[in-house]
Amino acid sequence: MNEKRTSFSGGFGFVLAAAGSAVGLGNIWRFPYLAAKDGGGLFLLVYLILALTFGFTLLTAEVAIGRKTKQGPLTAYNKLKQGKYSKLLGILSCVVPFLILPYYCDIGGWVLKYFVAFLTGDGEAAAEDGYFGGFITSEIEPIIYMTIFMVIIAVIIFMGVKKGIELSSRILMPILLLLIVGVVIFTMFVTNPENGKTGLDGMKVLLIPDFEGLTFQKLLQTIVDAMGQLFFSLSIAMGIMIAYGSYVSKKANLVRSINQIEIFDTVVAFLAGAMIIPAVYVFMGTDGMTAGPSLMFVSLPKIFVQMGPIGNVVGAAFFAMVLFAAITSAMSVLEAVVSSLIDKFKMSRKAATISETVIAFIIAIVVCLGYNILYFEIRLPNMTPDQNGQILDVMDYISNSVLMPIVAIMTCILIGWILSPKTVIEECEVNGEKLGRKKLFVVMIKFVAPVFLFLLFLKSAGIFQMLGIKIFG
Ligand code: ALA
Repeated sequence: MNEKRTSFSGGFGFVLAAAGSAVGLGNIWRFPYLAAKDGGGLFLLVYLILALTFGFTLLTAEVAIGRKTKQGPLTAYNKLKQGKYSKLLGILSCVVPFLILPYYCDIGGWVLKYFVAFLTGDGEAAAEDGYFGGFITSEIEPIIYMTIFMVIIAVIIFMGVKKGIELSSRILMPILLLLIVGVVIFTMFVTNPENGKTGLDGMKVLLIPDFEGLTFQKLLQTIVDAMGQLFFSLSIAMGIMIAYGSYVSKKANLVRSINQIEIFDTVVAFLAGAMIIPAVYVFMGTDGMTAGPSLMFVSLPKIFVQMGPIGNVVGAAFFAMVLFAAITSAMSVLEAVVSSLIDKFKMSRKAATISETVIAFIIAIVVCLGYNILYFEIRLPNMTPDQNGQILDVMDYISNSVLMPIVAIMTCILIGWILSPKTVIEECEVNGEKLGRKKLFVVMIKFVAPVFLFLLFLKSAGIFQMLGIKIFG
């Protein structure tokens, strides 16, 4: 059966697909507002160090597990080491993409809506106060956009690994890069006629570490933010890299591919910061930086409109780019579940894709309705007293803040202690390649990563807050 498993046409096809998965809403929507919140250059520095250590370790482990076992996440761990522990880990790493998929498609639908607004010259309306709130609280429109988005990714996954995932990544990723570089160059030179500030002034905010008022607590908070971001951004602990790794041929150079994915994802996150932060700074000053999650849907449209008639073009290019990034990520989330269904229940790709899409579609509708007829307010354990969440936030909390750290910790324990780091190292070096940072990998997977991830879990799940422990300020 393993011999027949379809695979990417080569190392490059895999890198493009995996980079497509990694580069998503996390890079473009979340990274810039976290960088703005956590002291610009300081956040970049912390993120980079974590990417080269934690990111490298878990990405390497997951891709290697995938290629070694040739299984989707649900069955891969059990193939490595049979037993209840592996079975539980398999189930959890399949539950994560199952939970993420519906709300990721809802947000994909929001991006599609803004793309259409700017493309049809309606950017001014999109920039008005209350536009975003009006849209997500309406009963039908968000469902329509989510449906279109979900159908697109389902069709791609339906087409299979080579003709669906690889081909779409080969087409969308170069366009995405061109668009992002184009928008970055444009925003670098954009000037606000009212105060004479240019995008280049704003670049300083992104690049120069802001140590003012830095306390130990703030530094810890920055590390926690960067770590959570890194996991989401690299598509780690979501079963995705195992599924994609399972389609990599034995001949491909895994070490090189992993390095390229890491570099690609980090560069795009940086470019997204360079595209957004200077523009926000020029038109809204440092106040604009505090917009948080609403930066992309509320602040940015206002900035595009302030750019004058060209703003519609820049806005359309920007949201097209976000849309492509969201599509290539969402399809990988779907593939993590689909590959699991195929491997565990021997379903056909067709049946697996249709069943999972139908279930995700129903849940995505419920998430949409969470902003109107099913509206409620809940303060999640990781929220401050002035915040409240809806269904989307609950699902995001369970998947990102609770399950993903657990999956990552369990993976470290499986590879570091129950099996041996050699399991991964040998898979990476199967054709005589050299895994650089080998010692780092061993120390990270056995000791540093599980301990830090446990602390991250306590923090991100809100357990410190619940216990009244204030080490994070
Ligand atoms: N890695 C994907 C993202 O950043 C899921 O959106």
